[in-house]
Amino acid sequence: MERGVFTANEIDSVLESMGITDRTAITRYGSGHINDTFKVDTSSGKSFILQRVNTAIFDPQAQELLKRVLLKVTSFLKSKGVKTLDFVAYEAPWRLYSYYGDCTVNEVVVSPLQAYDIGRAFAKFHNDLSDLPPPRLEEVLPKFHDTLERLKALDEALSNDVANRAALVADELKFVEKRRAQAGRIVSLMASGEIPERVIHNDSKINNLLFMRDGSAVIIDLDTVMPGSVLSDFGDMVRTATASAAEDEADLSKVYSKKEYFEELSRGYISGAAFLTQAEIDNLVFAGQLSTFEVGVRFLTDYINGDTYFHTSYPEHNLVRARNQFKMVESLEENAEEYEKIVKELFTKK
Ligand SMILES: Nc1ncnc2c1ncn2[C@@H]1O[C@H](COP(=O)(O)OP(=O)(O)O)[C@@H](O)[C@H]1O
Ligand SMILES: [Mg+2]
Repeated sequence: MERGVFTANEIDSVLESMGITDRTAITRYGSGHINDTFKVDTSSGKSFILQRVNTAIFDPQAQELLKRVLLKVTSFLKSKGVKTLDFVAYEAPWRLYSYYGDCTVNEVVVSPLQAYDIGRAFAKFHNDLSDLPPPRLEEVLPKFHDTLERLKALDEALSNDVANRAALVADELKFVEKRRAQAGRIVSLMASGEIPERVIHNDSKINNLLFMRDGSAVIIDLDTVMPGSVLSDFGDMVRTATASAAEDEADLSKVYSKKEYFEELSRGYISGAAFLTQAEIDNLVFAGQLSTFEVGVRFLTDYINGDTYFHTSYPEHNLVRARNQFKMVESLEENAEEYEKIVKELFTKK
């Protein structure tokens, strides 16, 4: 995805319409591939984040929906005294919020303690939003975690085979087929009501956490907040925060899930997640496997489709990512018995 090009004049007229007329500097910020993000300094000393939501992905109707969701979530959190994104102005697709300077952001988890912190912060986030008043939050990206839909997209990609790559992924397809039967487990437990729908973040990575000097954490990047299962957020934390290597590491001998990180992540999450039901607890370990499988399926699908969705740096990039995620699934499966023991012990200690 290409980044947008904006002149200082264009940005200044946006800022002016938002009531900011004393800016001193505008700098590109962030590493996201979806939005254009800028830090804006002003002569008063106050700084802001100015962001333009991608209009190629979100049409005007979706932009308004996103705005309604963000303002509902952040004003609810603020009403409870929870520090969150502080919108100063929102004129879709542009929005302006306060810049928090007294914090640190980590790009990747490099210690078990950080795994604990991220687990604890997202448990608090789930807890803080557990009594968000009705109506049900609108869905910015419907069926985001419908694993069966993801598999359907893979099947379609295979039958179209537009890039003539289907023949190259026989081993990966075998891997998928072995696990197809269990892929719908969380979706069907939710449909039957056994696993409750809650409000979740859907991008539970450490670089979406601002660690404030006072020890608290502020969760940002709220564009994918939607109804869903907390198991999706926990699963994605297991996928990203317990991994021994980046998700595009090609040397698979370096790719596995680290037990001490899983233990601390779970300790942090469980310590803050008193709301969990037994059905959710029973699926925490499985959720890690499923989230990782789901992302692997998406990379594989994009590879077969000729790399139309994820940004790639070389022709096999998506295939390397898919293999990496599937190796991670295998590691999580191998560790499952031990991980279940860890989770069980954390609950008996509580
Ligand atoms: N309000 C804020 N205060 C301080 N830093 C921020 C703020 N919002 C975002 N950032 C920084 O900018 C980065 C990117 O912002 P984010 O909203 O996560 O967008 P994306 O992930 O799409 O690039 C964050 O990881 C963080 O380092
Ligand atoms: Mg982010």
